[in-house]
Amino acid sequence: MKDNTIIVGLDIGTTKITTVIGEVAAGGSVDIIGEGTVPSEGMKRGSVVNLERATHAIKQSVQAAERVSGVKVESVYVSVAGNHAKAITSHGLAAIRRNQEIAQPDVDRAIENARAVPLDPNLEIIHTLPQEYVVDGQEGIKNPVGMHGVRLEVDVHIVAGTAGPLLNLRRCVQEAGLRVEGFALHALASGLATLEAAEQAQTVVVVDMGGGTTDMAVFKRGNLAHSACIPLGGEHVTADLAQILKIPMEEAENVKRRYGAALPELADQDLTLEITTSSGSTHAITAFELSRIIKPRLAEIFGLIRDEIDHTLGPVELVAQNVILTGGAALLRGAPELARDRFRLPVRVGRPRGIGGLTDIVSGPGHAGSVGLVLYGIGEDGKVPHLVYGDMAPAVTAPSTPDVPVVPAPTPEPVAATPDKPKDKVGPSLADRVRGWFKDWM
Ligand SMILES: Nc1ncnc2c1ncn2[C@@H]1O[C@H](COP(=O)(O)OP(=O)(O)OP(=O)(O)O)[C@@H](O)[C@H]1O
Ligand SMILES: [Mg+2]
Repeated sequence: MKDNTIIVGLDIGTTKITTVIGEVAAGGSVDIIGEGTVPSEGMKRGSVVNLERATHAIKQSVQAAERVSGVKVESVYVSVAGNHAKAITSHGLAAIRRNQEIAQPDVDRAIENARAVPLDPNLEIIHTLPQEYVVDGQEGIKNPVGMHGVRLEVDVHIVAGTAGPLLNLRRCVQEAGLRVEGFALHALASGLATLEAAEQAQTVVVVDMGGGTTDMAVFKRGNLAHSACIPLGGEHVTADLAQILKIPMEEAENVKRRYGAALPELADQDLTLEITTSSGSTHAITAFELSRIIKPRLAEIFGLIRDEIDHTLGPVELVAQNVILTGGAALLRGAPELARDRFRLPVRVGRPRGIGGLTDIVSGPGHAGSVGLVLYGIGEDGKVPHLVYGDMAPAVTAPSTPDVPVVPAPTPEPVAATPDKPKDKVGPSLADRVRGWFKDWM
């Protein structure tokens, strides 16, 4: 029997660096046997800005996971934030000889043709993900091999990363004494870890709410069909609080985590906080007022994600069935409710599922990316792997607090012809700048 395989995910985030060590049994079950999380250093919005400090933090994170598992890590799968990536969906075609069955080389030819799009030489392809196939106009075919037809078509989702940031990431990992086994888009990894079996038959939007970026991926029947990234995240919410309340970032972070809410109606109505500003003066603020500072930024982020989907795929409530929130910022009280309001779809917080071992340690939405990298490493084809659940731990059980398991969709409303823009958006100039950034996306 084949030995168990060790697969390691390294999620180099803006606020934290997490290493997750997975042990894959010959039967296919995955146990998490090591985890190490340290505060991030040398990173800004998913980019390495200080090689030495980032390398140091990577080493610390990997060593912490090694200590837990007793395993020496040699190679890792590394996540890439969407702001270094360009994603396009390209169409490929292959003609099939009359009276011949479609064979694997025909499928490869169709995919190769889709790949043959002119790409900026500064880009390195990270993922080539075939969507469903079309045979003689018949859509929705998962595997065309063995079918008859004269025309085979495929849409391929190509994700390419900017060479510079990828090289910097690779360099840090190598300097830390590790080999890069592969790169995977952050939101793809988050989706792989959190999509439930039923959702693999649907269209699902995964929104990974990190510290410096919010990564989005649309999964269509288990395939990554679209991806994008907003260079805004939980740190911007903290910065808003720090600026408006005139307190240091660390204190703003504490206040946000303990008392913050994304919706004023969900804030503790009886709570008043005494705030001491950096200059020494004190003033009182209610939790209600606090959430009125938090809401606009989060609404802006959800609004930008919504605009992106509306513009590329169509009105989100018509193209998708539900939304999964992952990343640390998904833990903010009221985030699923606000997302439900903006997307007009059922929303849930996504936690890694289908794994055994140290499930309690990796049960939060902030671990979706790192656990997802391990799952990506199993298949490496970007598809949600068919997990064989361990005997002892069939799935991660979500703690009952603090988030809402599923927020159902609101009662349907007539769909607006134009995208639903948040009414209380702050800093329209910033939003416009971000939208300008999206213009480059195809
Ligand atoms: N309990 C909580 N309530 C509110 N926000 C939280 C909570 N826990 C973490 N966060 C926020 O989550 C963010 C960090 O999320 P995460 O760990 O997913 O980011 P990251 O992976 O380091 O960053 P990125 O993916 O942007 O590179 C921070 O802004 C933090 O304030
Ligand atoms: Mg992250």
